[in-house]
Amino acid sequence: MLGARARGGWQALRRCASLPRAQRAVRLRVREALGAREPAGEVKVQGWVRSVRSQKEVLFLHINDGSSLESLQVVADPSLENRDLTFGSAVEVQGKLVKSPHRMQNMELKAETIRVVGPCDTWSFPLKMKERHALEYVRQFPHLRCRNNTLGSLLRIRSEATAAIHSFFQDNGYVHIHTPIITSNDCEGAGELFQIERSNEAREPVEKTHFFDVPAFLTVSGQLHLEVMAGAFTHVFTFGPTFRAENSQSRRHLSEFYMVEAELSFTESLQDIMQVMEDLFKTTTHTVLSKCPHDVELFHKYIAPGRKVTNDRLEQMLKNKFVIISYNEAVEILKQASQTFSFKPEWGCDLQTEHEKYLVKHCGEVPVFVINYPYNLKPFYMRDNEDGPQHTVAAVDLLVSGIGELCGGSLREERLPFLESRLQRLGLTDAYQWYLDLRKFGSVPHGGFGMGFERYLQCILGVDNIKDVIPFPRFSHSCLL
Ligand code: 4AD
Ligand code: MG
Repeated sequence: MLGARARGGWQALRRCASLPRAQRAVRLRVREALGAREPAGEVKVQGWVRSVRSQKEVLFLHINDGSSLESLQVVADPSLENRDLTFGSAVEVQGKLVKSPHRMQNMELKAETIRVVGPCDTWSFPLKMKERHALEYVRQFPHLRCRNNTLGSLLRIRSEATAAIHSFFQDNGYVHIHTPIITSNDCEGAGELFQIERSNEAREPVEKTHFFDVPAFLTVSGQLHLEVMAGAFTHVFTFGPTFRAENSQSRRHLSEFYMVEAELSFTESLQDIMQVMEDLFKTTTHTVLSKCPHDVELFHKYIAPGRKVTNDRLEQMLKNKFVIISYNEAVEILKQASQTFSFKPEWGCDLQTEHEKYLVKHCGEVPVFVINYPYNLKPFYMRDNEDGPQHTVAAVDLLVSGIGELCGGSLREERLPFLESRLQRLGLTDAYQWYLDLRKFGSVPHGGFGMGFERYLQCILGVDNIKDVIPFPRFSHSCLL
């Protein structure tokens, strides 16, 4: 089936039938050409050459324009060959779209003219024809790696997943909020902040260089601003860049990443929050699998086989209800594990990645919600469970296979006296007066969560290093370690 764009292309094709030949050619994307149901005269395809094979009688090219993993085969008379027609060059091919005699391809383009728009020096071009370059190799060329199949597939999947996440929330009545990127809050209280200052090129006295009247940082989470909006719109979400100055070179931490966050008012139970997390994961993944089956297959077949993330495994995650265990239960499971951990599991200590991965394995590789974490481990905004002697808050983390923590969320402390005393103990009362105000003017029980978008992509595709699921890795990690 052709999409709306392709149908547009074919309508234009009919309209152009009466124009002089040179102007008649209709521009088709490679994806549209490959999916066409009938042959067509006078079409034009633009893209980059992925292979050139010159035979005595015929010249074969493959052209890719980023619209699909598959390239379009171009068949031409050898007289159309020229010196600049090399792997990597940009070309415009005009000709007839015909049924391909090859079993693996529906259509091919019989070229009448080939114009090299931008030549490519194949000797110095780091990508080589027909080579399956390792992810580590292409990472050295952030400005060129999108011309490689793996990154091409990744970026199409990223784009579809982004659209699917927006649709999920819009379809469920959430209002999208653009939360600020520059903020004075340290929402998570972990001090992993990048501070914003004017560059000192102005060479002004230090006291004059401060741009804002308070210290300002790149956001670590849009949550607190979402809470403001949930107090008027009930259900809100944001999906934007997030920054953490963690000195970690790990395969699951970035200094700049994308976070999807949702906030729900009139919610008294963690169950409601977990349901949204599970639905978001399943709906988005179903959409990605149905819109980009070939791109996803490339990852499952060639990138992740050792990690066994196959379509079957993903199907299992999608089919089964996610498991729910309490933090107390998690610690008991870890204590009884036959595996020895680098960090000994103890009540009151944070779960480490090795613990999180073990818990998912213990639950049959089905995603696991761990709820009710120790009060002292979690940020000030989480709702006090008022239990004891092991004091907990209504927090939830979603753990997934191969990654560990994918989402973090909680019920928020909506009760003024509880929040006031917690902020007072932390010496944050003045900074969070506005946040306390929210608890004075129509406060309601509410909660929400955040999901790391790159970790989500790692999880569904089986990518080991988080650097390989972002478009540009230059400032992904600190150089301090
Ligand atoms: O668990 P976190 O820190 O939760 C929050 O920031 C909450 N304020 C969200 C909310 O309730 N609205 O971060 C949420 C998720 C993590 O579970 C993880 O997937 C991802 O964001 N994340 C990172 N991803 C990549 N690199 C990093 N440095 C990350 N830090 C967190
Ligand atoms: Mg967390």
